[in-house]
Amino acid sequence: MAEDLNIVSGSKQEKYISITQQIEALITGEPDLTANLANIAAALKEQFGWFWVGFYMVKENTNTGNYELVLGPFQGPVACTRIAKGRGVCGTSWAKGETIIVADVEKFPGHIACSSASKSEIVVPIFKDASVVGVLDVDSELLDQFDTIDQQYLEAIVALIRH
Ligand code: SME
Repeated sequence: MAEDLNIVSGSKQEKYISITQQIEALITGEPDLTANLANIAAALKEQFGWFWVGFYMVKENTNTGNYELVLGPFQGPVACTRIAKGRGVCGTSWAKGETIIVADVEKFPGHIACSSASKSEIVVPIFKDASVVGVLDVDSELLDQFDTIDQQYLEAIVALIRH
């Protein structure tokens, strides 16, 4: 497909329907995971203008032998590189295998503040078979920006990823 995105206005659902179709077209037939994660982060950032959107992927730390979340393709300010299982919103989503919506990050015990500008957050796990292989993390500078509509569409978008 052409590399230009069609950015739409309208309801949150309308934006998600449009961007999901375009993401599907961008990544279908492309086997490179990094390229696909990079384009998904860019497409979501362009459509929604969020403060930070990107991926953390489960990888072995060759120094320790532990598996950790390691920063992957993203759009936004520089971020924490590694997150342990069960730590912060991302590590909790990985440990539980569940999407986590945080209306006010200051009220989430153990939240990892990569930036003090981030106020609300949604983290969606990415599955391969029954295992979490990474997470999609979206941060907003505004409180209470994410709900079950975001959850529904972001879960559908990460299900398009072939790992
Ligand atoms: N706030 C996240 C860390 C990642 S950054 O926000 C990009 C967390 O608590 O897991």
